[in-house]
Amino acid sequence: MSHILAVDQGTTSSRAILFGPAMEIVAVAQEEFPQHFPRSGWVEHDPADLMGTVLSTARAALEKAGKGAGDLAGIGITNQRETTLVWDRATGRPVHNAIVWQDRRTAPLCADLKDEGFEETVTARTGLIVDPYFSATKLRWILDEVEGARARAEAGELLFGTVDTWLIWTLTEGRVHATDATNACRTMLYDIHDGAWSEEICGRLGIPMAMLPEVRDCDAGFGTTTLLGGEVPILGVAGDQQAATLGQACFRPGMLKSTYGTGCFALLNTGETAVRSSSRLLTTIAYQFGGRPTYALEGSIFVAGAVVQWLRDGLKAIGTAAETQGLAQAADPSQEVILVPAFTGLGAPYWHPGSRGAAFGLTRSTGPAELARAALESVGFQTRDLLEAMHADWTDADGAPTLRVDGGMVANDWTMQFLADILGAPVDRPKVTETTALGAAWLAGQKAGVWPGMEEFAAGWALERTFTPAMDEAERDRRYAAWKRAVAATMSV
Ligand code: G3P
Repeated sequence: MSHILAVDQGTTSSRAILFGPAMEIVAVAQEEFPQHFPRSGWVEHDPADLMGTVLSTARAALEKAGKGAGDLAGIGITNQRETTLVWDRATGRPVHNAIVWQDRRTAPLCADLKDEGFEETVTARTGLIVDPYFSATKLRWILDEVEGARARAEAGELLFGTVDTWLIWTLTEGRVHATDATNACRTMLYDIHDGAWSEEICGRLGIPMAMLPEVRDCDAGFGTTTLLGGEVPILGVAGDQQAATLGQACFRPGMLKSTYGTGCFALLNTGETAVRSSSRLLTTIAYQFGGRPTYALEGSIFVAGAVVQWLRDGLKAIGTAAETQGLAQAADPSQEVILVPAFTGLGAPYWHPGSRGAAFGLTRSTGPAELARAALESVGFQTRDLLEAMHADWTDADGAPTLRVDGGMVANDWTMQFLADILGAPVDRPKVTETTALGAAWLAGQKAGVWPGMEEFAAGWALERTFTPAMDEAERDRRYAAWKRAVAATMSV
């Protein structure tokens, strides 16, 4: 019983990562599942696909390693956050597809809430801003639009959950209806200061509180599952960006990580202080142990790796994501193409759901190389937007924190060098870039007593490479000013 299984249920795929006793990766299995786009701006997942791919990848990872449930000391779950599910308490049957975090269908309801001045209450209680991104208005939409849902919810027949809650419920065959504080704080229903669901917000949105899961620490017990062939405890749960913060060992106030997946999410540990942002960042819970939350400032960008997917699958300008590096290097330096990938609106710090993507500076000789370079650069520019906002909200006595990066895109050296150049600050890439899975596994491993505690784990964090800024300051400022003008243009069209 020395192995730990991390389940990472993400936006486009589910992954299972089996770790051995020395915290080494023993086996990985990954499966993509269909994305459903019923209308423009709508994004859904079939709940059965989420659970099905979690189980099949978990079984596949165990099989690859020649291991079974009996070898597992515990399971850690990490997941795409905010995505909203509602199901029948008695049958476990979902009443609607999962509404994904990227879905914009509740933009009109969010506009109404803002118009009536409700955002102040939301920010004061939840640390969030009013945006379709979060679960609350998605849940409200299901109650309004699915026939009979509101009456059934009021009768106590329906349950709400984010993806972690759905997985826990299904894995425990309906015995546990729970979430952890890092997922709860993304719903726009949870008071991050009181550590409880907000009656005031639930009341305004007409959400019956009996639907809501119990909120636990990240390393609380979440029941046991027998679906992997033997009884295994679920010992750790955290939203994927918070799990990456743990995996990057950002345990001290002032430590900062940025994860480059579908989107990009930067979290700055602010310790026991829930810093209220004056720059439109989110105040969120980084992790919670012993009933005590550690807070973070979060900057959320909706499109990072997804811009490369768009080049490949939408424009068909490239064959594989890896090609972008060579193309960016080969791009004509005299062409300054700027791509603002606001495909689903702009997230932090602009929060402009009405913006859409735009390219500036196109000429007759602009080709795939210049577009690929502009796509990669957009990731750097957007990260700088977040870090500028963080510097405005957080002054650290030790000076600017180094950025620890992870996620699929960080393998791209060109992008990481541009990131350091445009930030004018070093960027640290760790040896283990599977930090999301590592964070979830660490929660379960330390709880099971087979992995080290916080300090020893943090001491084991190992640097692979630091990218040091090489661009001169005047050039950096000129390029960033051009980016800001391009973003402003997408907000005025
Ligand atoms: O807030 C959304 C985030 O949790 C999704 O992460 O890695 O699935 O793109 P990812």
